[in-house]
Amino acid sequence: MAISDSIQLLSEKLSNARHVTVITGAGVSAESGLRTFRETMEGLWKEFDPKTLATPEAFEANPELVTRWYDGRRLGCLAAEPNPGHIALARIEREISSRGGRFTLLTQNVDRLHQKAGSSNVVELHGSIIEWRCNATGRKIVPPESAFTSFPPRSPFADSILRPDVVWFGEMLPEDAILAAGWAAANCDLFISIGTSAVVYPAAAYLEQASANGAFTAEINKDTTPATGRVNVAIQARSGEALPRLADLAFGADKQ
Ligand code: OAD
Repeated sequence: MAISDSIQLLSEKLSNARHVTVITGAGVSAESGLRTFRETMEGLWKEFDPKTLATPEAFEANPELVTRWYDGRRLGCLAAEPNPGHIALARIEREISSRGGRFTLLTQNVDRLHQKAGSSNVVELHGSIIEWRCNATGRKIVPPESAFTSFPPRSPFADSILRPDVVWFGEMLPEDAILAAGWAAANCDLFISIGTSAVVYPAAAYLEQASANGAFTAEINKDTTPATGRVNVAIQARSGEALPRLADLAFGADKQ
């Protein structure tokens, strides 16, 4: 199907949907200048072995290296601006909510750009790099928007250090996020997977769950993924281009 036909089809589903659940991944933030995890040419993991940075074991072994790296990423996320894809998703939430529907945005991104764009019903599956937490007490803090002055940063709550409030490899996803995401996937009539390689579980399972419960399913990704053959409609395009077109077709040209 041509891209314009698939966007048209999805826009019709969107304008008629009552309950919409979307899952986003790093691809949605790529056009804000934040690099994705798995892209072979520009992914962060090409420069760093994730096992040396994104695990509890790495943090324990070398908290200085891990917190320095995460602080650099935190500052990068704070400096980044939402792109037209984030902005269109915030608009879609407003449109669906204003007609009494429910829009839930599940994200694997830790950058908070969806919220910066105006999305409010956001479930952060992998936590947020903008918040850090005390390694002893678990209490959370939003650090100032400047670099930490010591690494690892000291906790203001206990004789301990701070770590980013993100989910590392081998860690459990936050329980409230899992519950909210599972419910939203099972109780929607339209489910859209956007800018995610759709390989990390349990996030990858939400599409299956939505589909099994009768939702119409779609994917927007600039490449093909394991989800591409399983959705009702796949749109191979950049999210920053496809999402504004989708929102305009579904709800009328955005005058804001
Ligand atoms: P990935 O880096 O695995 O996938 C990004 C996806 O976005 C790829 O399929 C790209 O083709 C696509 N993409 C890139 N630019 C795009 C654009 N402008 N528009 C649309 N699509 C685009 O990132 P995630 O799927 O988010 O987990 O990865 C999921 C999780 O794996 C991450 O949260 C992280 C990682 O390991 C943890 O840290 C626990």
